[in-house]
Amino acid sequence: MVTNKMWGGRFARGPASIMEVITPSIDFDKRLAVQDIAGSKAHARMLAMQQIIGQADCEAIIRGLDLIENEIADGTFAFSRALEDIHLNIESRLRELIGDAAGRLHTARSRNDQVVTDFRLWLREACVRADQGLEALQRALHGQAEAHYATIMPGYTHMQPAQPVTFGHHCLAYVEMFYRDRGRFSDASKRLNESPLGAAALAGTPFPIDRDVTSKALGFARPMRNSLDAVSARDFALEYLAAATIAATHLSRLAGEIVQWSTPAFGFVRLSDAFTTGSSIMPQKRNPDAAELIRGKTGRVLGDFVALATVVKGLVLTYGTDLQEDKERVFDAADTLELSLAAMAAMVADLTANAEKMRAACEPGFPTATDLADWVVRVLKKPFREAHHIAGSIVKVAEDKGVSLDKLALADMQAIEPAITAEVFKVLSPEASVNSRMSLGGTAPARVKEQLHHWRSILR
Ligand code: ARG
Repeated sequence: MVTNKMWGGRFARGPASIMEVITPSIDFDKRLAVQDIAGSKAHARMLAMQQIIGQADCEAIIRGLDLIENEIADGTFAFSRALEDIHLNIESRLRELIGDAAGRLHTARSRNDQVVTDFRLWLREACVRADQGLEALQRALHGQAEAHYATIMPGYTHMQPAQPVTFGHHCLAYVEMFYRDRGRFSDASKRLNESPLGAAALAGTPFPIDRDVTSKALGFARPMRNSLDAVSARDFALEYLAAATIAATHLSRLAGEIVQWSTPAFGFVRLSDAFTTGSSIMPQKRNPDAAELIRGKTGRVLGDFVALATVVKGLVLTYGTDLQEDKERVFDAADTLELSLAAMAAMVADLTANAEKMRAACEPGFPTATDLADWVVRVLKKPFREAHHIAGSIVKVAEDKGVSLDKLALADMQAIEPAITAEVFKVLSPEASVNSRMSLGGTAPARVKEQLHHWRSILR
């Protein structure tokens, strides 16, 4: 092994063979090729503008980079592990294509500011993709909510039937969560959109560069103020991973509900054949694999966040090759999140809600017991604590007789509280319960319709 021709000037011999295994990042950072070329073009043009390199050399560099861009797009570019990473691969190919002018490109630049420029550009686009994936999922949920704004199901706390709600209201709860996720990506994207290019290795450069020019050419809002921060900071990547982790936890909650809802015991939703798999031994099975995989993949995304946070923790300023470990974690999280979002959006659009099963599930758990207590407060003017006790005693009677509250005889209620009248039956059905919850953000279909309207204008 000869010494690396890109930096081998003072090296008498090549690296140990294990170094050729541990050092290269090309297998994964080839994903930064487009961004790397964009960064190099902006840098070369700025160098020429500042008369740091000649115009002819700049034109040769741009022409060569265009050719390389095409080779990479066609899949004809030969990536080499011996050249370590995407930056050195491209620079080496540029030398083959245009000769010595290629060597001028790396003036007033280092791989340290180069790589993190590429990475910020890549993540800026990843934030856009996450936003689009989240919006598509919101639209699918909104579609279900529109169809089921008045479909009654049991709402749960502690996984016990609590109070009736509508399925549309439930779907819109996720629309809210995914909207906040979009906000987190948008915040992260704004904060990461500053240019590290021109920080050079760590201290800046003696060449009269113009960092505003490269920053602008690459669509950054401004150059980063501190060169040491520019090459060493990775909080922008952590922020993306944190946003991805939170979005993934939301996905996993929804996935968990779909798994549960699609069991025969619930039967709240049916996934079509397209979104279920069979069992090789049990012919009756319809397994919700996509939902389970989405739920499971949340662990990967959180793992990616923890891995990078651990890499950065305690790392002295400025650049250390530890930071080469940043990219795989981010790529994995982005791939996982984008796949999960696409699969979830398709699955939500595909599922069929079973309104009869949802309504029937409201019967066994006395979910209108709170409505009974509220009626006793409102009409009989009892303190809530006393009303709670009366309603609890009535639930006990209904339970013993095996009937729902709205099927219990008035006489049975009056045996517990003689002042109760037949008027009470107006509040004991799940329909009445849901319709009465007209407070802002409540589950009454009229309120759900307002939410639907709100989202329609945002989601288009
Ligand atoms: N492949 C490196 C990375 O991913 C690029 C920067 C290398 N800089 C250096 N001085 N070794 O971080």
